[in-house]
Amino acid sequence: MRSIIIDCDPGQDDAIALLLAMSSPDELKILGITAVAGNVPLELTERNARLMCDIAGRTDIPVFAGCAQPLRRKLRTAENVHGRTGIDGADIVEPKQLLEAQHGVDFIVDALLAAEDDSITLVPTGPLTNIAMAIEKKPSILRKINEIVLMGGAMREGGNSTPSAEFNILVDPQAADIVFCCGRPTTVMGLDVTHQVLATPERRDRIRRIDNNAGRATAGMLDFFNRHDTAKYGSPGAPLHDPCTVAYLLKPELFEGKHCNLAVETESELTMGHTAVDFWHVTDRPRNVLWMHAVDADGFYALLIDRLSRYENA
Ligand code: RIB
Ligand code: CA
Repeated sequence: MRSIIIDCDPGQDDAIALLLAMSSPDELKILGITAVAGNVPLELTERNARLMCDIAGRTDIPVFAGCAQPLRRKLRTAENVHGRTGIDGADIVEPKQLLEAQHGVDFIVDALLAAEDDSITLVPTGPLTNIAMAIEKKPSILRKINEIVLMGGAMREGGNSTPSAEFNILVDPQAADIVFCCGRPTTVMGLDVTHQVLATPERRDRIRRIDNNAGRATAGMLDFFNRHDTAKYGSPGAPLHDPCTVAYLLKPELFEGKHCNLAVETESELTMGHTAVDFWHVTDRPRNVLWMHAVDADGFYALLIDRLSRYENA
């Protein structure tokens, strides 16, 4: 059993990562979900996270709103990818799940301070603003973190938001720099691996046959989420970026990685947010991340479909 905190910016792929995590209470104890501004503004990312708790029947999991802006830069959103609501394709209703009054950063600090050393896994799937703020606010939380498993960055794939940068890192490069330099074991699902788990028509058909609310919401979100990347890359389906983090927690053997140095560009506007991954160890910089570069895509979708199918047919 892992105790985890998911920090996210739903976004269809974050939403599916939440549904995957909430479907697996025997393996994952979700202490809380913190929302951050990213794909859409904070008031939508927190609302979308709460909606997923309703769909999953997991209103036992507290949801917190974190930072509405990056540490230093102006917020950049991605409605062109995710739609105006952030989870276009899902039925949008006012969630039953309430929003906690506590700020998400304070929740992360308090939850970690209350935990044993090396006992909490952080699972960020959006810009790293909340995580960085928590570390800056209370550095003593670091020893409580046993692993950070995040979605972000790119090496061979190049950037998806500028020629050099992946969206999560680009939105808040300063925050990413703080996290990648924090010294805790950090496993990184960059575009190099997420672009291998494409929601092809065959896979979407199998998801569409899941007869429950989680399956229906996932199928609807994928129908919308698919259109942007298939047009942009000419690929047979959109990459399911964020669920790679949760799939790794549930079945790490699906993935292959290599310990490397990863450094973030925080100065040049041309390459802002670029993740320089020293895959071939051409420098003596510390190997601060486990860089994931291969995944069993069929195994990933088999896991996702199996776990989504576990929800009651509501
Ligand atoms: O670049 C992909 C990442 O940016 C994903 O986390 C997606 O949800 C967006 O936040
Ligand atoms: Ca995300």
